[in-house]
Amino acid sequence: MTQDVTEAPAIDDLQRTIHELQQQLMQAQKLSSVGALASSITHEFNNILTTVINYAKMGLRHKDAATRERAFDKILGAGQRAAKITTGMLAFARNQGDRKEPTELVGLVEDVLVLVQKDLQMHRVRLQTDYFDQPSASVNTCQIQQVLMNLIVNARQAMDGGGQLCVSVRTNQEEGVGEIAVRDTGPGIPADQLRKIFDPYFTTKTADKNGQGGTGIGLALCRNIIESHQGRIRVESAVGRGTTFVLKFPLVAPATMKHPSAHTVSAAKAG
Ligand SMILES: Nc1ncnc2c1ncn2[C@@H]1O[C@H](COP(=O)(O)OP(=O)(O)OP(=O)(O)O)[C@@H](O)[C@H]1O
Ligand SMILES: [Mg+2]
Repeated sequence: MTQDVTEAPAIDDLQRTIHELQQQLMQAQKLSSVGALASSITHEFNNILTTVINYAKMGLRHKDAATRERAFDKILGAGQRAAKITTGMLAFARNQGDRKEPTELVGLVEDVLVLVQKDLQMHRVRLQTDYFDQPSASVNTCQIQQVLMNLIVNARQAMDGGGQLCVSVRTNQEEGVGEIAVRDTGPGIPADQLRKIFDPYFTTKTADKNGQGGTGIGLALCRNIIESHQGRIRVESAVGRGTTFVLKFPLVAPATMKHPSAHTVSAAKAG
């Protein structure tokens, strides 16, 4: 009896500590993705600054209104692109806790693609997006962006000599889920490894010169996050052809959305 009384709070404390450590691990892993993108984002900012500087010079050199207006337009466009990247990066890096809200999945995907676009381009990976419709699900935006970031970085790392990455969003009415698929044309995963890829610390990679990658916690965290959303994560892979990861989330009725028609369906295909 006395034992029960003294042990109960100890177990509560331990559970709280485990939860806190899980949150910290998730945050640390997220910051490691930010690190993986640091070089491409710096590169992108350099390009933006070159645009700003060159058009500012052009505006100073040419006094006519038409040239100056064109220069201002270019400077504004470059500034807005920079703002989109920094806003996206700050939103991604923020710790949003566990809160979930009804969210349009296409908007969520687009916000991640803004951050990885340059990285893909620098590694000769072509990006294709297929938005079949606009499903909404109750998600923690930051966490699902982290999952997508892990899948995209994995796909890019797998396609060493370049390739194609396709990200698609669709409603699967039969299963009552919204789906996000990430498909690559990389080398695929052999069957004996496929069974282990969600195991914590399973990796076939070695850390790069910056100590980045190869801890093997990316997919283990993805699975934890998806399960905490009552969702599912599925993988299909064919050696020599590529790999597809599919995330499935229970649908919610489009009520008050986080991305109210901010993103239009940009490419739709039948099927
Ligand atoms: N798209 C993919 N194509 C081929 N292999 C993949 C792909 N995604 C994952 N894998 C395999 O699954 C393993 C585990 O992936 P996971 O993201 O958990 O860890 P990691 O990428 O090795 O390390 P970390 O994510 O911690 O940097 C990878 O090492 C790789 O062998
Ligand atoms: Mg990984």
